[in-house]
Amino acid sequence: MMNIKINATITCTVLLLAFSIGCQGSKDLDVKPVTAEPPAEEVSLQKNLPFKFGAAISAGLMKSRAAYRDVVTKEFNSITTENAMKMSFIHPSADTYNWADADFLVDFATQNGKRLHGHTLNWYKNPPAWVTSFQGDSAAWEALLKTHIQTIVSRYKGRVASWDVVNEAFEDNGTLRNSIWVQKLGEDYIARCFQYAHEADPDALLFYNDYGHEYGPTKRTAILNLVTGLKSRGIPIHGIGMQMHTRVNRPDADLAKAIETAAATGLLVHISELDIAVNPDNDKNMVWTAALASQQALKYKNIVKAYNAIPKAQQFGITTWNVSDADSWIPGQYSRPDWPLPFDANYERKPAYQGILDGVK
Ligand code: XIL
Repeated sequence: MMNIKINATITCTVLLLAFSIGCQGSKDLDVKPVTAEPPAEEVSLQKNLPFKFGAAISAGLMKSRAAYRDVVTKEFNSITTENAMKMSFIHPSADTYNWADADFLVDFATQNGKRLHGHTLNWYKNPPAWVTSFQGDSAAWEALLKTHIQTIVSRYKGRVASWDVVNEAFEDNGTLRNSIWVQKLGEDYIARCFQYAHEADPDALLFYNDYGHEYGPTKRTAILNLVTGLKSRGIPIHGIGMQMHTRVNRPDADLAKAIETAAATGLLVHISELDIAVNPDNDKNMVWTAALASQQALKYKNIVKAYNAIPKAQQFGITTWNVSDADSWIPGQYSRPDWPLPFDANYERKPAYQGILDGVK
């Protein structure tokens, strides 16, 4: 009895709907067809892009700002630790590891099904004071490097999918930086960093990360020679991270060339720290305008388009360096107003967001 009633109700509703659609159609013939696009609130970078899209994030902001956490949860399927895994944060003295923030981010990623990309096991910049004052022979330095890398990689084995193993080893003129690591361990310490990381987690994907591929051939060639050299020696390197801290007036051809030449190595390619500055000339009084917003959107689009053109199997993904203009490192770093990211300071989508989506259309 009940079933018959329900069936009757459903049939009537369907008939009524069909009738009203029919009437509507005959009354108003130029009604626009319903598009297949999902409603705006359904769109997200992680759903609408054919490769992973991520952001570098901070544990502090995840805890203190609901809007930040919401955007991270909704938009991205890859996360990079912005600062929490840098040596000075995670290993502040010889026998102390500060796991709290890194653990928090790794747990967040694990619980929310997001890939975690660790940044960075080795960097020339800001080594902790205990390292700069460390006294020891080359064996002691080697042990320091190996212990640092393997303690961290082992802790997150199976939960951190990939690592920036060495970050920014080159000067802009293509020579190797005379970092504390080169001074104490020799130029080939880079290869050993990869070997140590691989020993600690043979499944982790290992990247060499640097900026300036798009500046021109000098630095780019030095980077590409390093990675292809490592690869041909059988050193476990799987990918190239191109930071791509770029600017609205960087020619598209330079950006595309950077992406294409990295892909030509056959390694995975990660656009690892993307942001697009609109105020590269440090105008202290600059204001955000619709014209800047659309130039920036176009630049985002063209970068995504060039990236989408490389072989699918090499697309590790694109990561922006933090989430919104309120969290970007650029204004602080260069003491200027700037708006480099796809979300505004209120965590609303900017035209750049649409630019990213348009890049794969
Ligand atoms: C930056 C962070 O965003 C800042 O918060 C921090 O004060 C300095 O480092 N290249 C890199 C990143 O590889 O680690 C840098 O991150 C930005 C440039």
